[in-house]
Amino acid sequence: MRALRPAAALFLSLVLALPAVPVAAQSGPQLESPTIHDRIPPAVPVASKGGMVVAQEARAAEIGADILRRGGNAVDAAVAVGFAMAVTYPRAGNIGGGGFMTIHLAAPNIQTTIDYRETAPAAITRDSFLATDGEADPFKSRHSALAIGVPGTVAGLVMALERYGSGKFGLSDLIGPAIRLAREGFPLDGDLADSLPAMQERFSRWPSSAKVFLKPDGTSLQPGDLLTQPDLADTLTAIARFGTKGFYHGPVAERLIAAIRDAGGVMILDDLNNYQAIEREPLRGRYRDHDIIAMPPSSSGGVVLIEMLNILEGYDLARMDEAARLHVTIEAMKRAYADRAAFLGDPAMVEAPLGRLTDKGYAKELRDGIDLKKTTPSDQLHAALAPPRQEGDNTTHFSIVDAAGNAVANTYTLNFSYGLGLVADGTGVLLNNELDDFAAKPGAPNAYGLVGGEANAPGPSKRPLSSMTPTIVLKDGKPVLVTGSPGGSRIITTVLQVIQNSIDRRLGIAAAVAAPRIHHQWLPDQVLAEPGFAPEVMRDLAARGHHVVIGPPATSANSVTVTPEGVVGAADPRTRGALAAGAE
Ligand code: DON
Repeated sequence: MRALRPAAALFLSLVLALPAVPVAAQSGPQLESPTIHDRIPPAVPVASKGGMVVAQEARAAEIGADILRRGGNAVDAAVAVGFAMAVTYPRAGNIGGGGFMTIHLAAPNIQTTIDYRETAPAAITRDSFLATDGEADPFKSRHSALAIGVPGTVAGLVMALERYGSGKFGLSDLIGPAIRLAREGFPLDGDLADSLPAMQERFSRWPSSAKVFLKPDGTSLQPGDLLTQPDLADTLTAIARFGTKGFYHGPVAERLIAAIRDAGGVMILDDLNNYQAIEREPLRGRYRDHDIIAMPPSSSGGVVLIEMLNILEGYDLARMDEAARLHVTIEAMKRAYADRAAFLGDPAMVEAPLGRLTDKGYAKELRDGIDLKKTTPSDQLHAALAPPRQEGDNTTHFSIVDAAGNAVANTYTLNFSYGLGLVADGTGVLLNNELDDFAAKPGAPNAYGLVGGEANAPGPSKRPLSSMTPTIVLKDGKPVLVTGSPGGSRIITTVLQVIQNSIDRRLGIAAAVAAPRIHHQWLPDQVLAEPGFAPEVMRDLAARGHHVVIGPPATSANSVTVTPEGVVGAADPRTRGALAAGAE
């Protein structure tokens, strides 16, 4: 056990004073998991020589595959899928939220990322999400218009197209299918049909939302009913004609601000006018002869993923029995998530020790502290590098590979399922509640049970720390795996296990995606396990001191691998409606 420095001890006492509510039992997005199956059904691999799009909604996946067939590259297809899912998968696909895109281009050989995370409006302060008693107020950060971040998706998708599209398709070509679906409507099916009825109460708070998603009698649309979104079709048309100006300036922007302010938010036109997506150098890791291309902050995804992989590289996972492999995997998760809480935030505001956190030597120090026989309790783990400075201080993923070997991993979100549930009147745009991803107060958990400190405190124009982890794995410079997932705090551990299943366990992509997963996030000190593990393995973990909670399947890692036989996609079987669409 490492000695705690005073500031770290104070931070820990704050977070450990929290009630030990199992993550699975917390209210909020866990209850809105896109999962509908009690057990994990098998996944079906789909092979194609002409490229592949795997997305959570079938119409959008087909739109992307069609762009590939017509000679578009993976980025063109990603832009088309991104706009289409804003229409066909409104619980997470969006233009009113934000996300991250990781790109690999084959020629020239380039890897890059686009951070289109929402930012806090300039009027947000450190105290914006506190109640009058000084405690974190989850209503403010999750269910009020204060939670709305300045949307980044339109800027992000347009930047991707302008910088890395093939040049064969204009924005209007790629938005066209989304506009048609919004205008003409489509029947509710798949995960949309499963999730929409549960949202009746949230939509009935706002007449502008009820107009789109409820029937005139106030009840929810049902499976098979037609969902038409004419205002959204007009907004998308403005974007198709005027690019980012059609959204961040002019009538659409004015309507967004009017709706947000009517609902009690603090965003102003300047916030929209000033929004910028940011192209960032990817975070790069190396794992058993593979290159890991991942998101740097403002997502924690890449840092935490690479830190965990570095710790695990020191074990011969392929030869370990299942309980031993799970044990060291959980120990790696606990240590990396402890660092996440202490150090990570918007890189424009805090300087995180990224080099050290992703360093193999640091990983060895952490690995040396792992006892193979028993777990290290979370209260004995802390960020070892520097004290947190508290004294001063429903998502969806798609993966695309084209025939030329270009790849895109894209994860974007409104945070909760359907975000805040507020459609800005006259725009059709569902707004996010992303600002709950800030640490409203040091040690106060967000909706996913994640804690943080000064590095992730709310602040004007700041990006809240994300867990989204769109990732591309290269072997000898070529993509072999494209993956990512929704799931809040569970995103990064999901991506870890898809990589582990592919590289260490040598499972094909369908099995790698379908295999049951575990999750630990340092605090609370518990392992969430999906159904499907052998009871004796779970008993073995308990004997090593782990508090194991078996919960329903969660997260949805729509992934693609590139094999000698061609490109193979696997839609995660946990959720209805996802599709691996080959472009042959
Ligand atoms: O950025 C984040 O980490 C969260 N806002 C993601 C939310 C999420 O994944 C919800 N989906 N299941």
